[in-house]
Amino acid sequence: MSETNPKLRAELEGIPTYKPGKPAAADGPVAYKLSSNENPYPPLPGVIESVTAATGSFNRYPDMACTGLISELSDRFGVPLSHLATGTGSVGVAQQLLQATSGPGDEVIYAWRSFEAYPIITQISGATSVKVPLTPGEVHDLDAMADAITDRTRLIFVCNPNNPTGTVVRRAELERFLDRVPSDVLVVLDEAYREFIRDVEVPDGVAIYRDRPNVCVLRTFSKAYGLAGLRVGFAIAHEPVAAALRKTAVPFGVSQLAQDAAVASLRAEDELLGRVGSLVCERQRVVEALHGQGWTVPETQANFVWLRLGERTLDFAAHCEQAGVVVRPFAGEGVRVTIGETEANDIFLKATEAFRKEL
Ligand SMILES: Cc1ncc(COP(=O)(O)O)c(C=O)c1O
Repeated sequence: MSETNPKLRAELEGIPTYKPGKPAAADGPVAYKLSSNENPYPPLPGVIESVTAATGSFNRYPDMACTGLISELSDRFGVPLSHLATGTGSVGVAQQLLQATSGPGDEVIYAWRSFEAYPIITQISGATSVKVPLTPGEVHDLDAMADAITDRTRLIFVCNPNNPTGTVVRRAELERFLDRVPSDVLVVLDEAYREFIRDVEVPDGVAIYRDRPNVCVLRTFSKAYGLAGLRVGFAIAHEPVAAALRKTAVPFGVSQLAQDAAVASLRAEDELLGRVGSLVCERQRVVEALHGQGWTVPETQANFVWLRLGERTLDFAAHCEQAGVVVRPFAGEGVRVTIGETEANDIFLKATEAFRKEL
């Protein structure tokens, strides 16, 4: 009998693999991980308590409807319960959105470079990626994205602020863009870093979605709320889209630990957002120091900075690692560096200063 492999979907061929940020070396000199846009602050004691309490019942499945969390989110954002859907991180929700909207023959538009999960989850859905280059200033080119819409377009990601450049699109240009998008095409405003924005001209997606049924806002507890390891994110969207997200969710995907931690985090929001404020101050300090050293850095509204280093990218990443900080290189393009604890940022700035002198 001839042996053949199980038949797998052709779409999976050549799929780019998601590269997680490299961890800090366990045995090297002091090393900080600035490669995954994580929150450097440890979980709050109250959040740990809520998770610890939930460990006593993890022989049971979690609340599949995430009732407590959805109700808390509904109050917090002033949106109906039926406009909310949760998932295993916002990347999980993004995948649910693709499953709900797109398949073979359909097109998904997003800026490039942007969040590296977009090409992966688009390809998994069987749809075709349409990547629209960022402007020379590293910002979404919304006019070009609108020009790229065809009859086959089903979903458009707008990553605001954009990962990895930290750049934003502002109210007027976003509204103008949305006015050009046909009402049967879903626009996903990926606001994973929303809480780090200080530019008042950047609109809150939740205000935008209210009178636009084809807009969906993606948020996460991974960044500002510091729950990256627990995997919980959510979408705010009008009822047909939110209902479709509940259909495409992995049943029981969000653990009870994650749900309870998310509720506890929303209740401790003042303290958590205070920490975000400190990180924003650190961001300003880092950006000013980089400018002082002669670097050109696109204006960032996220918890990371982007250095376009081109062919020096991998050298620079190795140099930083030697110095004690792990950064996120995109070979041939640039390096994304998370704003971390003060000591880590200081090491990074020393590394940039030394590297600059060699240029
Ligand atoms: C733009 C953007 N969206 C979504 C995510 C996904 O985050 P999570 O799945 O942890 O919510 C990330 C994570 O880095 C991101 O940068």
